[in-house]
Amino acid sequence: MKEYYSSKVVLVTGGAQGIGLGMVQAFARAGATVIMADADKEAGDEAIQWLKEQELEAAFITCDVAEEEQVKALMLQVSEHHKQLDALINNAGISNPDVGSLEDMPVADFDRVLAVNLRGPLLCTKYALPLLYKAAYPAILNISSTRAFMSEPNTFPYSASKGGLEALTHSLAVSLTEPRVRVNAIAPGWIEVGPWEKESKRYEPLHTRQDKEQHPVGRVGTPEDIAEAALFLCSDKAGFITGQSLTIDGGMTIKMICH
Ligand SMILES: NC(=O)c1ccc[n+]([C@@H]2O[C@H](COP(=O)([O-])OP(=O)(O)OC[C@H]3O[C@@H](n4cnc5c(N)ncnc54)[C@H](O)[C@@H]3O)[C@@H](O)[C@H]2O)c1
Repeated sequence: MKEYYSSKVVLVTGGAQGIGLGMVQAFARAGATVIMADADKEAGDEAIQWLKEQELEAAFITCDVAEEEQVKALMLQVSEHHKQLDALINNAGISNPDVGSLEDMPVADFDRVLAVNLRGPLLCTKYALPLLYKAAYPAILNISSTRAFMSEPNTFPYSASKGGLEALTHSLAVSLTEPRVRVNAIAPGWIEVGPWEKESKRYEPLHTRQDKEQHPVGRVGTPEDIAEAALFLCSDKAGFITGQSLTIDGGMTIKMICH
């Protein structure tokens, strides 16, 4: 991967913590020039420091992906420093899915989750296109969720946003053909991000035997599990893959529960 990514520019939204930071680390290790865009400046500053300790580097730009003007400004900043964008990873998301009962849920909560998790990827894609078109093998990767396909109770905004993101993925893939941009998704299952959060939110994970055993692979996922697939999907090795969604969940969603 080093050979491929050493001349490539990769933008990861929501890159300051969690799965996004795992991808930032992996792409930086692979030699890419990495930009993390995130609404949380404190997390971004900490992430830069943490990467430095590993002799890795990434630029940080503050941006709320739901805000059109901020997304325009983000892409302007990227274009001032880079002549092309090789990969856009739409990862930023409001990831706490439980909003309580529908009767009590303020409609504004629904709107906000949709604005960040679905409008955000659309805005970032729209304003990144001129830069993506300058790349030789441009790729977009949307981070959706297994909750796009199945639900726990009271997760209406999150599930709907991720279902929409899955549909946006195939819709963009058949639309962005001139010039060509490949567009794929990863649908993660349970990914433990505790150790990847900024200091004030960080925690040591404690997984019960039941937590582990609901996964056929025998464990909960990590940001590295997602990052490995992201490296592949955004590279020329995945040149014949577009409009697809790869579920990465340790087999959790194919496991039948019988009592
Ligand atoms: N962790 C999981 O189990 C899991 C499972 C399925 C899908 N996902 C998805 O993966 C992505 C990352 O999740 P995570 O678990 O790493 O979450 P996280 O909360 O650890 O990280 C999300 C990052 O996105 C940033 N962010 C939030 N709103 C933003 C906005 N409006 N603009 C810019 N940045 C914003 C946050 O500041 C944070 O740094 C999300 O899209 C989430 O829905 C996570």
